[in-house]
Amino acid sequence: MIYSGTPAQVYAQLVSVPPANAPSGQGWLRVAPGDLAHSWIIEKVTKDQPGGSGYGTRMPQGAPNLCQPTVDTLSAWISAGALDN
Ligand code: HEM
Repeated sequence: MIYSGTPAQVYAQLVSVPPANAPSGQGWLRVAPGDLAHSWIIEKVTKDQPGGSGYGTRMPQGAPNLCQPTVDTLSAWISAGALDN
């Protein structure tokens, strides 16, 4: 999935938006403000089999895993409420 457009458009496609392909009934959102455990983006960049299996691949697909400082920065932003700033 490629997110493009202005920052506001990207934000609107990510934050508090249900994923296209994630286990249903578990409360996943692409980014769940303040809630790492339900933020699908974190699951997708930290697990080889996001959601167990059948929900696509680890991201970035076909590229090296994100480094820990990047995951930490993303996590901190989500934990702080995923503010639009
Ligand atoms: C080489 C770069 C990338 C490619 C080619 C790529 C490609 C894809 C593809 C084909 C999917 C749909 C299949 C699936 O869910 O596994 C997907 C989903 C997704 N990607 Fe990536 N991706 C890349 C990088 C990233 C990065 C850097 C992130 C996050 C920082 C990311 C986050 C996601 C998320 C959260 C989904 C699930 C979207 C949803 O189901 O609503 N991807 N990506």
